[in-house]
Amino acid sequence: MKGILLAGGSGTRLYPLTEVTSKQLLPIYDKPMIYYPLSVLMLANIRDILIISTPQDKPRFQRLLQDGKRFGIHIEYAIQERPGGIVEALLIGAHFIGNDSCALILGDNIFYGNGLTKILQHGHGTAEEGNALLYAYSVSHPEDFGVVTFDQQYHVQSIQEKPSHPQSNYAITGLYFYPQGVVQLAKEVQPSQRNELEITTFNQKYLEQHKLKVEILGQSMNWFDAGTIDDLVIATNFVKTIENREGINISSPEEIAYQFGWISLEEFKETIEYYQQSLYGQHLKAMLKEK
Ligand code: TTP
Repeated sequence: MKGILLAGGSGTRLYPLTEVTSKQLLPIYDKPMIYYPLSVLMLANIRDILIISTPQDKPRFQRLLQDGKRFGIHIEYAIQERPGGIVEALLIGAHFIGNDSCALILGDNIFYGNGLTKILQHGHGTAEEGNALLYAYSVSHPEDFGVVTFDQQYHVQSIQEKPSHPQSNYAITGLYFYPQGVVQLAKEVQPSQRNELEITTFNQKYLEQHKLKVEILGQSMNWFDAGTIDDLVIATNFVKTIENREGINISSPEEIAYQFGWISLEEFKETIEYYQQSLYGQHLKAMLKEK
């Protein structure tokens, strides 16, 4: 399975913060935002990752994450010239995906909670079996998101993009697992009135083909979509609270790589040494001591 991390967009809701840098490079407490979705792909056991960003920001992501070797993964980079919609990521990544299955995650989505690895690996498995799998999370303002409704057996009934009168509180999160053939289907999506290739339109195609599953993330899971300044503050405070209370790192790619056996102890120690002056490095060091 391939992984695509979409980290373009214009970030206008965060201006002036995002006038000269990417939203996904802004901090969520002690690390850049992109570390969180990158970690999610890694936890889903995906080691081939394409990062898509804007022409100005691509070199910055490359400087930060390089070829992914120090995370035991392989990272490639591509450009989205303008925010043409989330489905465009699948077209930009067509060659990269080939005939494989693919997970797509938005660069401003943060997931954390008990059992996350198992949930993600189940998503991976579902896509490899030929179905699309999305996640739903109960929110107080569903009208800001794609909204899913279920029948009594919790089968998906409908998905609607930002409905003015939502029929449920379940928002679709920015993490999508798709089966083989995803690129072919993405090519069929027509631009919307706002001239974007809409992810909801795409997901509806899987629904029509009876190949769409949506798993509800329960109370023990946390999901943040860090698109506004208040969302940034909420996510930062959340990470600060958990990390300092438990002395751990949330979403550290190096730590995941070490735990999964993708990098050696020596390589992990080099990272700790390199980051020794920062809280990020101190949390990594503490994790090693606990072992
Ligand atoms: P949005 O939050 O919808 O858009 P944005 O980041 O451009 O922000 P704003 O509304 O403040 O202008 O995008 C959600 C995520 O998807 C975000 O991480 C950016 C990414 N994205 C792209 O990279 N390309 C796109 O074409 C779209 C629509 C989103």
